[in-house]
Amino acid sequence: MNAVTVENLTKVYPVPMRRQRVVAVKNLSLAVREGEVYGLLGPNGSGKSTTLKVLLGLVTPTNGQASIFGQDSRDYRSRTEVGFLPENPYFYKFLTAEETLRFYGDICGIPARELTMRIGELINLVGLEDARHRRVGGFSKGMLQRIGLAQALIQNPKLVVLDEPTAGVDPVGSRQIRDLILDLKKRGKTVLLTSHLLGQVQEVCDRVGIMARGEMVREGSLEELTSIDRQTEFVVEDASEELRAEIEKMIRASGARFVASRRPQRNLEGVFLESTAEKK
Ligand SMILES: Nc1ncnc2c1ncn2[C@@H]1O[C@H](COP(=O)(O)OP(=O)(O)O)[C@@H](O)[C@H]1O
Ligand SMILES: [Mg+2]
Repeated sequence: MNAVTVENLTKVYPVPMRRQRVVAVKNLSLAVREGEVYGLLGPNGSGKSTTLKVLLGLVTPTNGQASIFGQDSRDYRSRTEVGFLPENPYFYKFLTAEETLRFYGDICGIPARELTMRIGELINLVGLEDARHRRVGGFSKGMLQRIGLAQALIQNPKLVVLDEPTAGVDPVGSRQIRDLILDLKKRGKTVLLTSHLLGQVQEVCDRVGIMARGEMVREGSLEELTSIDRQTEFVVEDASEELRAEIEKMIRASGARFVASRRPQRNLEGVFLESTAEKK
């Protein structure tokens, strides 16, 4: 069974003052398989958040429908197995990290004893041990995203929906959030996330859909979308000038086309993470 299906979804927002309409999502269909991490990517305003809001029953679709584990998303029961991190989560400033999670856990009806255990686990999971008794009002953006993630996981949902989980978070924090997402996947959760920064999420997603102007423009596995057809790459350490020349000659002699030989590059993020890591 699919964790999520969206079928021919269209959402038109009325703009009453100007008597205009905004077509936020246009005839969109997508499916998220159980156990996978699916990334809905696209520039700002392409309709990602609207799609998630329809899925979570926060916005009524103009046309089409969505379902979660086979249950229509207009039925509140479809949301019992879903955790959600909204785009701009709002937390009560004067509650501590722990109190915040207790607040959400109470809303979900988790019994007090079990909740205390879950809160401990989640605080460890998102790495907020040191901030456990600090007020959320003083949290950095990265810490807010992490408490938001913990909140989304409080009732141990099967599906986790994250709207821009790494937005506004520095590379170290965003690395931690991505590790967390991979961890969720390992524990069998299905994750649906959005991002307008492709590089930040591409390594965690099994499949991605790319939206533009409310429509799905590309969809597939990362491999399908990013591999260059008909090319092969070798990486060799300590190759001499002669060896390189020899290899190039062999390739040309075989009738294949020699395209390039170059030093592999690390991405700048790798350099950043390595240079700012704490020395132990
Ligand atoms: N409540 C709303 N009323 C009117 N227009 C909206 C509303 N929410 C979003 N929009 C418009 O719908 C389009 C898609 O927005 P959104 O789904 O937030 O995109 P994304 O999450 O990809 O940035 C944008 O043009 C946005 O301005
Ligand atoms: Mg958005």
